[in-house]
Amino acid sequence: MPDGIAIDYDGLIPNNVGLADDLRVRKALETWYPGYLNWWKTMGPEGFQNSPVFLRTAVGVGSDNWAKFDFVRMPEYRWGILLAPQVEGRTIPFGAHKGEPAWQEVPGEYRAMLRRLLVIQGDTEPASVEQQRHLGATAPSLYDLRNLFQVNVEEGRHLWAMVYLLQKYFGRDGREEAEELLKRRSGETDSPRMLGAFNERTPDWLSFFMFTFFTDRDGKMQLAALAQSGFDPLSRTCRFMLTEEAHHMYVGETGVTRTIQRTCEAMQAAGITDPYDIERIRGLGVIDLPTLQKKANLHFSLTLDLFGNEISTNAANAFNAGLKGRYQEDKLTDDHQLTNATYPVLRQRDGAIVNEDVPALSALNIRLRDDYVADAAAGVNRWNRVFAQTGTDFRITLPHVAFNRRIGEFAAVHADTEGRVMTRDAWEQSKAAMLPSSDDNTFIASLMRPERERGAFASWIAPPRHGIDNRPGDFEYVKIER
Ligand SMILES: [Fe+2]
Ligand SMILES: [Fe+2]
Repeated sequence: MPDGIAIDYDGLIPNNVGLADDLRVRKALETWYPGYLNWWKTMGPEGFQNSPVFLRTAVGVGSDNWAKFDFVRMPEYRWGILLAPQVEGRTIPFGAHKGEPAWQEVPGEYRAMLRRLLVIQGDTEPASVEQQRHLGATAPSLYDLRNLFQVNVEEGRHLWAMVYLLQKYFGRDGREEAEELLKRRSGETDSPRMLGAFNERTPDWLSFFMFTFFTDRDGKMQLAALAQSGFDPLSRTCRFMLTEEAHHMYVGETGVTRTIQRTCEAMQAAGITDPYDIERIRGLGVIDLPTLQKKANLHFSLTLDLFGNEISTNAANAFNAGLKGRYQEDKLTDDHQLTNATYPVLRQRDGAIVNEDVPALSALNIRLRDDYVADAAAGVNRWNRVFAQTGTDFRITLPHVAFNRRIGEFAAVHADTEGRVMTRDAWEQSKAAMLPSSDDNTFIASLMRPERERGAFASWIAPPRHGIDNRPGDFEYVKIER
């Protein structure tokens, strides 16, 4: 018996929020469903829509045994509305209302701010599905194909999570926002998704792994900050989303680990010790390590932009209002109001990068970003173990936060991966050594040939150490119709 609150699977929309008795919201969601399904079929994964995929579906909302695995055709996936259990007597953990009972209804004075937070979070979920929709055609194995689709259906569910809050608590405005969420399109000029990184292309599987490692990790940080919210339904929603999110980052982290491992093994077998002997290494059908570093540089810097401006009154307002907290707010031991606190922020002053203490309230974006960088760095360290294990003389590092930025302080300067400010000319000349060049991308694209036989893996990636749900790596994770 799964722990947490029982999920009702009887109606069209699985849920643990009592939809059966909430006629208004149930109707609103059932009315929204056909549009969602139409979006999924036209903007979700290209092909494979009739293939049974070995997917997990939530059957509980606790931390153990909350999912079951079975073959499902993606359009028949049970996208549900799942909130983590309510915490009895929960109070608002931070901000001006700290200590007051958590809100079960939207506080009127913060209605617009809250709606905006939900819409921005909601917009990223379908965006990533759109960005990844072409990847099925070049999956390096059935195992990887399944992982892609698992991430995709769960991002779809995360859209449902935000749409539920909009429909339940924001009446007509919420309904309109829910419609708009199905209308914007990643990368489209006329109606793009709201945030930059979600309008970039995810052209190949290395990009997919880097995206799930770096950009889904931004998702984790944002959800963790919203999970602290004084608006209790948002807190409970985000707490359960975080349970699912962990797998997305696992897919990214292990995907890159397996890529590194394959490259190191191929180099070893060929007797190549210099990781910069790029042409010979590429000749082995694997991705050379300097190119991998460049991909990491790109995805890391694009993701940093998602944290917004270094100095932000919006972030301060959302914190004061008790709507969006800090990472692990409940584990921090200060006053949770930050009235007189300061926080050190890297800033750009006349072309030099300096550290400046600013009021902690206005630096909340950067504080979250700093927590993010530490979390990402721990993952990079785990990648680097493969070099130690295979005796390869290489390390992946995270570039400086000033590198390749389009948002915030550093958008105004060019800086290299060490954070040295440089002229535009110098940037143009050295860019190809720091970011994937069109040659690099063409090479990676040349490796992206699908492997669809059970247990087969593309030349550039090692098999996983563990399969899914105790199945072996060569399990038939997707039954492709032939
Ligand atoms: Fe998500
Ligand atoms: Fe995710």
